[in-house]
Amino acid sequence: MGSIVNYNLTEELEHGIYVSCLVRDLARDLMLGEQQVYQLQIAGMLHDIGKLRLTNYLYGNEEIASPLVIEEMKYVRMHPLLSYEILKARDYSGLILESVRYHHEDYDGTGFPSNLVGDEIPLGARIIRVCDVFAALTTDRPYRKRFEVDEAMSLMIDEIKHFDMRIFLAFENVVHRVGTKYQIRLAGDDTELGERYAFGGEELLGGKAIWQ
Ligand SMILES: [Fe+2]
Repeated sequence: MGSIVNYNLTEELEHGIYVSCLVRDLARDLMLGEQQVYQLQIAGMLHDIGKLRLTNYLYGNEEIASPLVIEEMKYVRMHPLLSYEILKARDYSGLILESVRYHHEDYDGTGFPSNLVGDEIPLGARIIRVCDVFAALTTDRPYRKRFEVDEAMSLMIDEIKHFDMRIFLAFENVVHRVGTKYQIRLAGDDTELGERYAFGGEELLGGKAIWQ
């Protein structure tokens, strides 16, 4: 099905790790304490966890498996709340919960699910928002190639009303330092793995090749 609700666990993990690292650096630059930085790293990793439940829900039910796009949009917009509920049931901290729940709120009040405006949006959520958008723009998608760092930043400046300006300015410094260094590919090109491990396989197995 040509669905916008088509999440892939590998891609979600890659995105979570990428966002988590950017959030850590940005939170440190914003002078948050290490305990907060640590919790925001977790929030950055898990902010979209509700999407995976959505996928199971939509694909696990034949009647819902071919919904209209508008219907899917409704569910997609639920994902921050689903993420929040999943983590709340497991006693994640209040800082993590609010950061996850509001990570799609925009500074000008046009985000979702609660249309919060400005500083009504918890700080952690504002931090994740900036990192999340940058990570998405600089990652290949099935329907488009990734944007270069400069292109991504200028697209974000075009939409600057969505972001907390103080956080965005600090983020520019982070990007200047690390660019896309934290991007990770867990699937696809195994050349490097092959070079590092395949050749040494016999030694790793105590001199016994696996096919013996
Ligand atoms: Fe999200």
